[in-house]
Amino acid sequence: MMNDQLRAVLQGMPKAELHIHIEGSLEPELIFALAERNRVKLAYPGVEALRAAYAFSDLQSFLDIYYAGASVLLQEQDFYDMTAAYLARAAADNVRHTEIFFDPQTHTARGVPMQTVIDGIYRACQDSPVSASLILCFLRHLSEEDAFATLEAALPFRDKFIGIGLDSSEVGHPPEKFARVFARCKELGFHLVAHAGEEGPPAYIETALDLLKVERVDHGVRCLEDAALTARLAREQIALTVCPLSNIKLRVFDKMEQHNLLSLLDAGLVATVNSDDPAYFGGYLNENFFATFDALPLGLSHAQRLARNSFSAAFLPAGQKQAFLDEVDAYFAAV
Ligand code: HPA
Ligand code: ZN
Repeated sequence: MMNDQLRAVLQGMPKAELHIHIEGSLEPELIFALAERNRVKLAYPGVEALRAAYAFSDLQSFLDIYYAGASVLLQEQDFYDMTAAYLARAAADNVRHTEIFFDPQTHTARGVPMQTVIDGIYRACQDSPVSASLILCFLRHLSEEDAFATLEAALPFRDKFIGIGLDSSEVGHPPEKFARVFARCKELGFHLVAHAGEEGPPAYIETALDLLKVERVDHGVRCLEDAALTARLAREQIALTVCPLSNIKLRVFDKMEQHNLLSLLDAGLVATVNSDDPAYFGGYLNENFFATFDALPLGLSHAQRLARNSFSAAFLPAGQKQAFLDEVDAYFAAV
């Protein structure tokens, strides 16, 4: 159990969040408010019934409810309100910079224009004191052809997002399915990331690196099953965006005491802590720090290292990155 001082340090330290699905920040109260505003019928009678359905057995059981929740998003203002709520919550956790995933196919498939999605999310980022950039994710359960069409539809707004990611159902949808569309995104100059090694095997981490040319791996926690891969990730300093509460809720690990965050750090990896889908997994970023530091033998030096990793792994210009790293070091010099 951590002490009050460590908790206060974790709360107050400057940090970046690099793995947050904006649709996963949609709280049940906002889902119902938007359902009413847009006259969308939900399969649940109220907030409590919806929250009670958040008992997941694996990734797919979560995704089914997550896509249902997103069905209330129709107007630009809906995307704005969702994003503004997340950014306010992130600011309260002393998140100084965030790189936000969004899933356009979840919305365009329902007839929502790409521009509505991107403009609403982007405008909220512009209005926030938190530094924020956007990463467009392809849904890997859909075809590569659909991903190409999504990229095409988003290119008129290319100045509003900095990167491309890959999410949704991992097993059975390996990275190689998206090799050609990622090659095109690389040519276009986007930063590249992909979910790999959450439920999928370590081989998916390897193919994400070699075939998709990703710069960071989202989750990646199953890398420790392969010693050669672990050594490579350490040697190349490939960051992993680890999501501890998500991993417990989706049963990647049984209990937080069994989470491998400390082992990843001890292996020399650039691990970071993130919230994934905070409205569904029981906590925003600081709750993820509190839960891991409560369950594992992590201390002040790990806190500083995780805060530094979050900025080192960010897609920020060198000067801005260094300024954040200096802020972290100044904060820890004073505790
Ligand atoms: N994994 C895959 N897809 C997702 C996730 C996740 O953790 N969250 C939202 N979409
Ligand atoms: Zn995720």
